[in-house]
Amino acid sequence: MCGIVGYVGGRDAIEVLMGGLRRLEYRGYDSAGVAVIADDGRLATHKRAGKLGVLEADLVAEPLPEGGTGIGHTRWATHGGPTDVNAHPHLGDDGRLALIHNGIIENYAVLRDELLAEGHTFASETDTEVAAKLVGREYAATGDLVSAFRAVVGRLHGAFTLLAVHADEPGLVVGARRNSPLVVGLGDGEQFLGSDVAAFVQYTRRALAIGQDQIVAIRAGGIELTDFAGRPVEGEPYEVAWDASAADKGGWSSFMAKEISEEPEAIEQTLLERVVDGVVVLDEIAEGFPADVLSAVTRIVVLGAGTAAYSGLLGKYAIEKWAKVPVEVELAHEFRYRDPVLDASTLVVSISQSGETMDTLMAVKYASERGARTLSICNTQGATIARESDAVLYTRAGPEVAVASTKAFTAQVVALYLLGLHLARVRGALTDDEIRGLTDELRALPAKLRTVLQTGPEIRELARSMSDTRSVLFLGRHVGYPVALEGALKLKELAYIHAEGFAAGELKHGPIALIEPGQRVFVVVPSPRDSTSLHPKVVSNIQEIRARGAHVLAIAEAGDVAVLPHADEVLRIPLAAPMFEPLLAVAPLQIFAMELAAAKGLDVDQPRNLAKSVTVE
Ligand code: F6R
Repeated sequence: MCGIVGYVGGRDAIEVLMGGLRRLEYRGYDSAGVAVIADDGRLATHKRAGKLGVLEADLVAEPLPEGGTGIGHTRWATHGGPTDVNAHPHLGDDGRLALIHNGIIENYAVLRDELLAEGHTFASETDTEVAAKLVGREYAATGDLVSAFRAVVGRLHGAFTLLAVHADEPGLVVGARRNSPLVVGLGDGEQFLGSDVAAFVQYTRRALAIGQDQIVAIRAGGIELTDFAGRPVEGEPYEVAWDASAADKGGWSSFMAKEISEEPEAIEQTLLERVVDGVVVLDEIAEGFPADVLSAVTRIVVLGAGTAAYSGLLGKYAIEKWAKVPVEVELAHEFRYRDPVLDASTLVVSISQSGETMDTLMAVKYASERGARTLSICNTQGATIARESDAVLYTRAGPEVAVASTKAFTAQVVALYLLGLHLARVRGALTDDEIRGLTDELRALPAKLRTVLQTGPEIRELARSMSDTRSVLFLGRHVGYPVALEGALKLKELAYIHAEGFAAGELKHGPIALIEPGQRVFVVVPSPRDSTSLHPKVVSNIQEIRARGAHVLAIAEAGDVAVLPHADEVLRIPLAAPMFEPLLAVAPLQIFAMELAAAKGLDVDQPRNLAKSVTVE
């Protein structure tokens, strides 16, 4: 949600800003704008509703004057519709200051009244314009942009990243953040700011994440970082682990297609150096979670939203089975509003690709305040949730650009499996040999997943044949249940088709009433090889819906012939241990949703109404 870019240096700022905004497009937005301090000292801005192409066309037709200092923004509308006027930047100090904002200023109405009483007028319906006017007012009094920020940011409630430039201070961009992301790109004689590193990684891979309640001033020669009270703060620079090409489509028809193809590598990378001689080694969490702390954990609460929460459900099956610790999985946005019971023996594991999801961030903070220990599973280096947690286990899926999460989900599940096996060893719940057997299985997964991905063309044909379908159901049991939920979520968000995922055992308690002749139902079928398998029960479920006219699309293990007489179509996955089947079964459902959306002519990477990084509650 909302992309933010700032630049100071020798390049043409507009070029840097527009390139950065392009790379942040994936976050989701509905208007865009830029401001530049021109070489002749003027502040020039332009903003438009719609996609970046609209703004770009205007800037080609009527270029803004050149300058090396500027800010750029893509807005996901919250206060006021996606119009030219509501787009950022907003102006203050009689049009000499331009400001952009990500987040929500919760007390904007009170502040607006204060400004109205002083005679200020507002052009837009946004909360952002209030911040622009406030900073502008302070600038008029102090003549110093950093001081003006300091005077204002402490008065704002809610979540915000703010960037501003002032015509009287060329060569300076000032930023501040609370509960919303902001990263500095450290260049040589030039500096960058971005909502995430994608904004500037084509110029520099040296980055520094701005901490909570901090103000940063960037100038070509360097940066100054302080807290909101003006006390100097030491930042922690880091090297971005991927280069700009990782965030390019690289010849694929969509980012989503590319990211699904990268799933085997996401597993390999997430396992890398964390499985040594069959033993799980999680050095990066050892400081925050030494063995004695992990042994004393009595309960685990897993938090996430959407796809991340579904990965958490899979983690629950694995961690309870292997480590014998009770695990609850909860939607982060429900968690802190129900007065959950937490104490120092509760381990709270948050899962987030972006590491910026506001619901999850707030839940993690709440858990910390209540004395629980927090571990995040995160895909974005230096993200806020990672920084707010006692320890972080990074998934290494690389940048995920398509709004719908795919390879990050796979990597999250693998990270949870690693955590489960690590806990099992520390707590003596599994023997070394048992752990070795499971890690061998894990390491065999990428090759198996590659064979699943080869069935893409077959799935595309199936999706094309179903492009008129209005409703699809997904069923699974045990670890197949989260897969069913994820398959349904992918289909609704990408193809705008009504889709529901159910635990197959729940059918007879209500959902079976939905079955009518021709109803398409995907069923995730467990392996028949395991004597404790739910295979016969799932086959019975299939028979029940088939008897009522359902058209059954089974995802079943290679060689499972027992399912053949009962299914209309069968998509095959290679043999794997039951706990690992989901990582193979989910890929056909991701491909199916993507191909069906493509068959309907929809934008696979940026589905309507959605944002990649959900930074508001
Ligand atoms: C669905 C999807 C979302 C995210 C959710 C959490 O395809 O991508 O449901 O999983 O918004 O996002 P993160 O993982 O960034 O916290």
